[in-house]
Amino acid sequence: MAALGDILTTPWRPCSRLVPDEQALIERVLVDLADRHRCPLIVTTGGTGPAPRDVTPEATVAVCNRLLPGFGELMRAVSLQHVPTAILSRQTAGVRGGSLIVNLPGRPAAVRECLLAVFGAVPYGIDLVGGPRLETDPAIVRAFRPGEKSAPATPLRKEPER
Ligand code: MTE
Repeated sequence: MAALGDILTTPWRPCSRLVPDEQALIERVLVDLADRHRCPLIVTTGGTGPAPRDVTPEATVAVCNRLLPGFGELMRAVSLQHVPTAILSRQTAGVRGGSLIVNLPGRPAAVRECLLAVFGAVPYGIDLVGGPRLETDPAIVRAFRPGEKSAPATPLRKEPER
């Protein structure tokens, strides 16, 4: 929550839920946050590892209309620069109606690392599913929207000119 507070400049209101590691319960809460509360962004923390009780990705996949595997791929790639055990996370993301759901690992440091890695694409992703326009603090993460005059969050290395 603190990480989101640092990233977002658009006023927002948290809608927090503490849910036991049970797939059916997690699914029910995700559906409630998406369909009833209409949360444009739903982040889960924890339960992404390989232990039997880790079922958050399964619940996410079950409730999403569409998956966005690039989120998990990028978060794992960035996290591997911090800890070798990042490879153990099965975190993913997807869309349910107008909500973007993103799985984050449980450690507070991991939450921030993963959010910072992907947040450049989150506002545009929410635009695309009909959600509200979110703005970020560019000193922390620059929201990238194709066609808008802002530099990509992570500048791509230019090939040397020949
Ligand atoms: N990613 C980041 N950025 N930082 C971390 O410390 N911990 C890893 C991984 N991803 C970690 C991380 C570890 S130790 C595990 S077991 C998996 O996330 C799954 O964590 P979870 O079950 O709490 O979701």
